[in-house]
This record gives sequence, structure tokens and C-alpha cells, in this order.
Amino acid sequence: MTSYLVVVINGPNLNLLGTRQPEIYGRTTLADIETALQTAAQKANVPVEIEMFQSNYEGGIVEAIQGCRGRADGIIINPGALTHYSIAVRDAIAACDVPTIEVHLSNIHAREEFRHHSVIAPVAVGQIAGFGADGYLLALSYFTARFAGRALVEG
Ligand code: DQA
Repeated sequence: MTSYLVVVINGPNLNLLGTRQPEIYGRTTLADIETALQTAAQKANVPVEIEMFQSNYEGGIVEAIQGCRGRADGIIINPGALTHYSIAVRDAIAACDVPTIEVHLSNIHAREEFRHHSVIAPVAVGQIAGFGADGYLLALSYFTARFAGRALVEG
């Protein structure tokens, strides 16, 4: 059986997770998040593969998104600071035609004003912010439920 592919893309400074401002971003590292996602993917009731990518460069993020075109079934992206100004990242998401969930560890709406606005949100399925590393798992649960052809909540 062929697997669904979810690509998890992390932007600038997210390689520092675990030691970067832990009071805001927690002590979980990107490697811990990958392990949790791989474990959750193995337990999912649909075959799903996870690919993780991180870059501190806008162009690297754009190329990773372009690489999802016609290949990935879902993108989970934490664009870091690029969230707030990168039209290039937004355009790449719009162009690649793969459902994309925007994730932030912190609640960007409760922080500095400049973090309240996301240029990515209008081209994303939705945004998950403020749940720490769990946000990535929440996004994956949404995708696996959708791949299985059901909603997370069934009436
Ligand atoms: C972040 C929030 C952004 O404002 C910030 O620039 C980041 C991390 C988050 O996950 O909470 O780098 O995306």
C-alpha cells in the first residue's frame, strides 16, 4: 500500500529549539519533535510517512515547499520569523497546491504586536499556535484523520 507523505518544514532559528528561550519555546528539541511525529505516524490508522526539513534561509524554505509539489499530501510548517513577512514563502505555499497547516510553538497572538500578523495564514488550511511542540502532533492528527476520510470529531 502506498503511504501518504507529510513534510514538516521548520524555518529560521528552530534548529535551536531546546535551548532557545526555553521559557517561550520549551525544552523540546527539533529531534524530539521528529521522534514524536514518527511514533505518531507509525501508530496512525493510515500509512503515513514523515519527512522533516529545517533551514535558516528563506530560499531553503521556498525550495523545500516547491519540492512538495505533486509529491506530498500535507505540509506542516513553522516558518519562524518568516511567518510575519515572507511573501516568497506564502507564494510558494499557494503555488504548490498541497494542504498546509501553520504551526507555532508560542501563542503569537499573545506576544509582541509584530508577531500577531501572519502573511502565511491566508494560504494555510489553518493555524495552530500556543500548544508548544504538541502543535505539530495536533496538525498530524488532522492530516491522518483527513487521509482516513473522516473528521477528528464525528457526530
Ligand atoms: C515561532 C513564532 C515566531 O514569531 C518566531 O519568530 C519564531 C518561532 C513559534 O514557533 O512560536 O521563530 O514561529
